[in-house]
Amino acid sequence: MASDDAIRATNDDATQCKRFAVQKGYWSDPYIQHFVSRGQNTHAPEINRGYYARVASIRILMEKFLKLTKCQCQVVNLGAGFDTTFWRLKEQGMIPQSFIEMDFPTVVMRKGHAIKQKKPLLAGISTEDGEIKFHNYDLHSANYHLVGANLRTLGEVEAKLTECGIDYTLPTIFIAECVLVYLEIEQSKALLKWLAEKFQTAFFINYEQVNLGDRFGEVMLANLKSRECTLAGVDACLSLDAQKDRFLTTGWQGADGMEMTYVYKCLPHAEITRIEHLEFLDERELLDQLFNHYCVVWAYKDSAGIGLDKINFGPS
Ligand SMILES: C[S@@+](CC[C@H](N)C(=O)[O-])C[C@H]1O[C@@H](n2cnc3c(N)ncnc32)[C@H](O)[C@@H]1O
Repeated sequence: MASDDAIRATNDDATQCKRFAVQKGYWSDPYIQHFVSRGQNTHAPEINRGYYARVASIRILMEKFLKLTKCQCQVVNLGAGFDTTFWRLKEQGMIPQSFIEMDFPTVVMRKGHAIKQKKPLLAGISTEDGEIKFHNYDLHSANYHLVGANLRTLGEVEAKLTECGIDYTLPTIFIAECVLVYLEIEQSKALLKWLAEKFQTAFFINYEQVNLGDRFGEVMLANLKSRECTLAGVDACLSLDAQKDRFLTTGWQGADGMEMTYVYKCLPHAEITRIEHLEFLDERELLDQLFNHYCVVWAYKDSAGIGLDKINFGPS
């Protein structure tokens, strides 16, 4: 079995890569610097573009959901790591009724510590009348909750959602950014099935690997294995159909997805022109391969018929 420490360490990698791309000007995020030090590493332009596309694509779908529900909704970020979306949404005045971040307790503990130490982070989760409660490693404020749970254990997930005051009738968006792949396929399916049973109106964004059955995938898996990090859920990442099927066989009403090669073409034209001028890209082929091995899959269950089936990368 993969070492959970190695899995947790992937969050440090992701945060480091995001901070580097932010420094390079790919997108603005004044908060990420509080979660990770500058670091010695530099990253290749392909990696920076890959992260840009990852962050931008999730943002587009999430903001469509927030607009559709007029923020009368909940956001649940599974395996959130040191994600900073909450603070960005707060700046934009797009705060949902409840924003919940869930990860392993040790990751949550480190994030909570950073929030306590850094004024801009603490100010972001504070409200005039609401107090901030720290309970063991968990943190609860009026709209923001940070809780530790193992996603493999549904009882823990449910208990923590209850502590956050989850409302199963409110439209809820789930985000899993490079997370489900670390769960055995039976475990991620059990989680998705449970969510589809419990929530009446839900949207799921899953960003992760795809097309891993080829040589590029083999190398990626071998690299991770050398760091004791096994992708336990690789079977769901063999094709886009396998990715979509995981939702369609677990009670979600509809699912669709795109490889990043195609998602990239749907990102705002002006932004793409801007970021493509930031750095000279030597290895176009490498970027193409990278984009061919990551995807965004989205799924919905829309019992109330609020139009979740219309959320995609098409024009609004
Ligand atoms: C690659 S990192 C991604 C972090 C964040 N979503 C991002 O994209 O910046 C994977 C995250 O999933 C979390 N994770 C993986 N398996 C988990 C599990 N079984 N329970 C809770 N968290 C898990 C890890 O601790 C880590 O923070």
